Amino acid sequence: MAVLKKINLAKAFAALDEAWSPRIGGDINDFQLKLVKLDGAFHWHHHEEEDELFLVVRGTLRMKLRDENGGDIVLGPGEYIVVPHGVEHCPVAEPTCEVVLFERNTTLNTGNVENERTIREPGVFERPLMTGDPVETWAAGYRAARQFNASLFDGVRHAANTSSLGS
Ligand code: NI
Repeated sequence: MAVLKKINLAKAFAALDEAWSPRIGGDINDFQLKLVKLDGAFHWHHHEEEDELFLVVRGTLRMKLRDENGGDIVLGPGEYIVVPHGVEHCPVAEPTCEVVLFERNTTLNTGNVENERTIREPGVFERPLMTGDPVETWAAGYRAARQFNASLFDGVRHAANTSSLGS
């Protein structure tokens, strides 16, 4: 039997320390609610198929839009915007903000652009059907993932050092 949990947004955002790194906060059929902290400017992109909803919880978000789409829209807490698929947009936090995204689970954060900010598999903050304390469950998983990534990176660096010594 499913055990339902509530999510506290303030606690959830307090546990997020990395900007531009969306975390999955729940699944609604094939849609997902994601939590993300923004810091400064992102880059222009669009999504071929997916519409994106941005709901500002804290701070100020300027959604830069091309003139043909009406130009920039500035959002404060409690305000949201839906960016339809195909529409170029460039989110800019002024200077930081906390945002809830609602979009299809196939949506790539950088859209049609592939760069160092592209995140193919966002971490899970918490799915409201999981058991355990949401923030702690997510934080523990996140810490473990970071340690694993750090150890991989050390391994790569070690290998690089070793091979350069050999040449
Ligand atoms: Ni987008």
